[in-house]
Amino acid sequence: MIGDKKVLFSGMQATGNLTLGNYLGALKNWVSLCDEYECFYSVVDLHSITVRQDPAELRQRARKLLTLYIAAGLDPKKNCLYYQSHVSGHAELAWILNCFTYMGELNRMTQFKDKSAKHADNINAGLFTYPVLMAADILLYQADVVPVGKDQLQHLEITRDIAQRFNAIYGDVFTIPEPYLGKTGAKIMSLQEPDKKMSKSDENANASVYLMDDPDTVMRKFKRAVTDSEGCVRYCEEQPGIRNLIDIYGACTGKTSAEIEKEFEGKGYGDFKMAVGESVVAILKPLQERFAELEKDKGYLDGIIKENAEKAEYYALKTLRKVQKKVGFPERAR
Ligand code: TYM
Repeated sequence: MIGDKKVLFSGMQATGNLTLGNYLGALKNWVSLCDEYECFYSVVDLHSITVRQDPAELRQRARKLLTLYIAAGLDPKKNCLYYQSHVSGHAELAWILNCFTYMGELNRMTQFKDKSAKHADNINAGLFTYPVLMAADILLYQADVVPVGKDQLQHLEITRDIAQRFNAIYGDVFTIPEPYLGKTGAKIMSLQEPDKKMSKSDENANASVYLMDDPDTVMRKFKRAVTDSEGCVRYCEEQPGIRNLIDIYGACTGKTSAEIEKEFEGKGYGDFKMAVGESVVAILKPLQERFAELEKDKGYLDGIIKENAEKAEYYALKTLRKVQKKVGFPERAR
C-alpha cells in the first residue's frame, strides 16, 4: 500500500513498433486505473537488451514509448512513468531473486522457448533469466496488481512463486501480486494468422497494426485481414479470424460481441472489416496527434523523466534495503 491505495505495476518493452495488441491489451486499460491504484509504469529497457539492439535506436524508441504512455492518457502527475534503467534497484533485486529461482522453472517458460528459437544465434543468459528481472520489477514496488495481456500470465505465475518462496524463508517481505486482465483485448491475434498473437516482431507487415500507422495503412491491413468461410459475423471457435476482428471492434467501440453480431446480421465480411478498420482509425488518430504535440516539448518530457525516476527510486530503495537486510548483507554506514 502507498497511503491508502493499493499498488499497481506494469511495463512494456521499447522493442519494435507498438502494436494494436499492446494498446488494446495493455495501455488502453491502464488509463482509468490511477484513481484506484498507485500506478508505476516502466519502459523496460533492461529487458530489451536480451535481444541485440542498435543503441541509438533503442534510446529513441524508449523515449517514444514514454511519450506514448502520456499520449495514451496516462497523466505523469498521477502515474509514475519512468525508464527501468534509471532505477538501479531493478537489476540489484533481480540478482538476489536469481538465487531463489530454479533452472527448471525458467526452462518451462514458453516465451524463452519461442525467443530462443527465433534468436538461435544469441541465446544469452539474460533471455533465460528474463522472468526473474520481471519478478524484480513487480516485487520492488510491492505491487498488488499487474495489468498484462494473456501472454504474460506465465511470467506472473513465476513471480508469485518466487515471492512466496522468499517470504517462506524470510517472513512477509513481498506482497504477492495478482494479474489484472482487461475485460477486452487481452489477446489480440495476428490479422494474417489468427491463431498467433499480434506481435511487434512479425515479419509480415500486414499481420500487425502499428500505433503509428496512418489511416490508409490501417484500412488496407483490415481489408486484407484473413476471415473465415461461414460468411457471417459470428463469435465462435470455428471462426478465429472473425472472432479476433470482433474482439478488436469491441475493444475500440465498447460494444459486446452480441451487439456486434446483431449490428452485422445479414451483412458480409467486407462491410464488417471496413467498420473494424474505421473504429481503429478513430482511436489511433487522437493518440497520434497528442504524441506529435508532446514529442516537440522536449523540456516538459525531460522534467517528467527526471521527477518520475526519482519517485520510482524512492519506493524501489525502500524494498531493496529491506531485502538486502533480510538476506544478510552488512548495513550501510549513515
Ligand atoms: P511486451 O512489451 O511484449 O508487451 C506489453 C504489454 O502488451 C501486452 N500484449 C498484448 N495484449 C494483447 N494482445 C496482444 N497481441 C499483445 N501483445 C502484447 C502484453 O501482455 C503486455 O502486457 N515482459 C513484458 C514487459 C514487462 C512487464 C514487467 C510487464 C517487463 N516487466 C512487469 C508487467 C510487469 C513484455 O515483454 O511485454
